Amino acid sequence: MSEPRNRPGEGPGEGAGEIVVIAVRNQDRWVQAFTDRFPDRKIVLGTQDATPESVEYLVGWKIDWAQLGNFPNLKGVMLTSAGIDHLDFSLIPPKLPVVRLIDPSMSTEIAAYCTHWVVHYARSFDVYAKQQQAAVWEIGPRNPEVTVGILGLGAIGTVVANHLTSLGYPVVSWSRSEKDTPYGQHHVGIEALMQFFAASNTVVNLLPLSDATKNIVGEAALRALGDGVLINVGRGGTVDTNALLDALSGDLHAAVLDVFATEPLPADSPLWSHPKVAITPHIAGETNPFTAVKVIGANIDLIDDGKEPYPLVTAATY
Ligand code: GLV
Repeated sequence: MSEPRNRPGEGPGEGAGEIVVIAVRNQDRWVQAFTDRFPDRKIVLGTQDATPESVEYLVGWKIDWAQLGNFPNLKGVMLTSAGIDHLDFSLIPPKLPVVRLIDPSMSTEIAAYCTHWVVHYARSFDVYAKQQQAAVWEIGPRNPEVTVGILGLGAIGTVVANHLTSLGYPVVSWSRSEKDTPYGQHHVGIEALMQFFAASNTVVNLLPLSDATKNIVGEAALRALGDGVLINVGRGGTVDTNALLDALSGDLHAAVLDVFATEPLPADSPLWSHPKVAITPHIAGETNPFTAVKVIGANIDLIDDGKEPYPLVTAATY
């Protein structure tokens, strides 16, 4: 764990600007975690109580990008999310560092979520839950091999793949760029994507949302997946909901959805009551302030030292 830094010659609040945390949940924990990590800085909850010229870092997810110009000494925006689809680069000054959150603890939590659901269907626990309702004692067929497709093999996808591999599940993967990976070579293009879906029994979708990935899991992909399972922990907008509902009316065995094009999922969505769908309210990888602040704190130190934080988000990487 990184130690709090008291920089020489700087008293509390002097030369060490404010960190403003914009959080709807776990507010006390965020403030506590930052106060422990940066005892020489003022930690402010929400921009309304900040002193604009003292603000050096904004930390949060739903940030009002139009407000950035109010903070003349802003040194960085530290996201509390891995996702970056909510950024508006037209309002972000080009030289201002914006840093995604890649928290190893969050990746492990997402891996646990995905593993839970992969095992659930691979071992027919869904069938046994139904049998229990009818007091049926019957041992179902054991699926000998479930190949898991990781759609989006980035920092988080790699952790998910490693966990599944350690349990013996064969893994295949696909991502948006051509590259060699421990899980095979990635080829871009629709043909490679369809081959990926056809090779998978369960697909774990971790893709971020961008123009390139919107509705990428559509009719053709779901047809290639056949009677498999789709687990979506990426972004809702990457899956075409109508195509998913059609696939669920047909062969698709099940869908586990943690993310949706509109969140909260509207009460009248047919997904809520669909017998083949499991829904969770975007909790696959909840941000834990105490583990996140270790990562964010290290990036703040890098920016303070004139070094590049990681991973930096730019309009080009988006
Ligand atoms: C959660 O969805 C995140 O982007 O971190």
